[in-house]
Amino acid sequence: MPMQKALKFTRSLLAVTITALAGVAIAEEPVKPIRPVQEINLAQVELGKKLYFDPRLSKSGFISCNSCHNLSMGGTDNLPTSIGDKWQQGPINAPTVLNSSLNVAQFWDGRAKDLKEQAGGPIANPGEMGFTHELAVGVLESIPEYVTEFKQVFGTDKISIDEVTTAIAEFEKTLVTPNSRFDKWLLGDKDAITADELAGYNLFKNSGCVACHNGEALGGTSFQKMGVVEPYKANSPAEGLSAVTGKDADRFMFKVPTLRNVEMTYPYFHDGAANTLTEAVDIMGRLQLGKKFSDQENAQVVAFLKTLTGDQPQFLMPILPPSSDKTPRPTPFN
Ligand code: HEC
Ligand code: HEC
Repeated sequence: MPMQKALKFTRSLLAVTITALAGVAIAEEPVKPIRPVQEINLAQVELGKKLYFDPRLSKSGFISCNSCHNLSMGGTDNLPTSIGDKWQQGPINAPTVLNSSLNVAQFWDGRAKDLKEQAGGPIANPGEMGFTHELAVGVLESIPEYVTEFKQVFGTDKISIDEVTTAIAEFEKTLVTPNSRFDKWLLGDKDAITADELAGYNLFKNSGCVACHNGEALGGTSFQKMGVVEPYKANSPAEGLSAVTGKDADRFMFKVPTLRNVEMTYPYFHDGAANTLTEAVDIMGRLQLGKKFSDQENAQVVAFLKTLTGDQPQFLMPILPPSSDKTPRPTPFN
């Protein structure tokens, strides 16, 4: 082989080997890149998007899913606990809806098995949207454009709560956030994160955070005790998984929250008691792992966590069909 050609061959062999090695490295990381949404029913998504933003699914005519899971703010309300019908103080922090399709179950205690089952909850929860499924469906049926759209999407003349929650859940499946800087790094772009951020990831990995925060969402896949090494003093009466299973051993077991977009989803923990990531990382280190991070280490872990912000959902603001003369009017003050 002439020199020139041999060199070229060696180089391409090297390139193949490096690519293969990088592939191995990615496969071994406990954190996986978020995949863009694959299969989706576009007609249901468009309808579900309207319903997600429609406050007429609440008694007051004022509260929509987006009130508490604001898609301009990381899918949360950035409040310790939410504000519901008649300005009621909610009992627990609103988790983000972003990437919620990756959760094993929904709610902090997992009491809804999937997004469809979950979506029926808030409409009829007296402390949230304060309505009933019958009244919500009645409102939709009084709006001719909704009747037409439900018919086009589901092929039925009568609107049902089942269709409402199916459409909302389908829309929520589109709320994934790929392309974070950390995902780019995982996929081989070594310049996508800084040395400090990488040091933070190594601390996150080697200290044991990944035992609970792993996979695509860095959470959402298991229920774990809050306060493994040291007990946690919560600002809320929530009991966690034991409320669902009735087992004492499940007391204070919560669904591990996703850490995707965590920079945007403050305040933290089920009671919303930690205002900053610095505080949340310090508490996690001490209570879950018995590890006290130095200020520098804490800053590095926080820097890493901020690389997990991905592409936020982008779409045109849905324009909602107007109520008709027959639409029951909201009663916000009684
Ligand atoms: C008044 C505020 C409020 C409204 C309105 C509201 N939610 Fe929530 N949402 C919450 C709170 C608080 C939780 C956590 C409750 C719990 O875990 O016990 C939650 C939980 C969720 C979850 C579970 C996420 C997870 O990680 O477990 C999803 C999904 C969700 N809501 C979607 C919706 C949809 C869809 C609507 C509209 C039909 C809606 N929410 C309306 C406050 C609200
Ligand atoms: C034993 C499992 C476990 C380990 C280990 C663990 N966590 Fe957590 N993490 C949880 C659980 C459970 C919660 C929710 C607790 C609650 O809200 O009461 C949580 C919550 C968080 C939150 C707040 C997220 C939010 O949206 O409220 C952050 C940030 C976090 N963990 C980071 C870390 C870091 C950094 C480490 C390593 C130092 C770590 N965790 C180790 C289980 C764990």
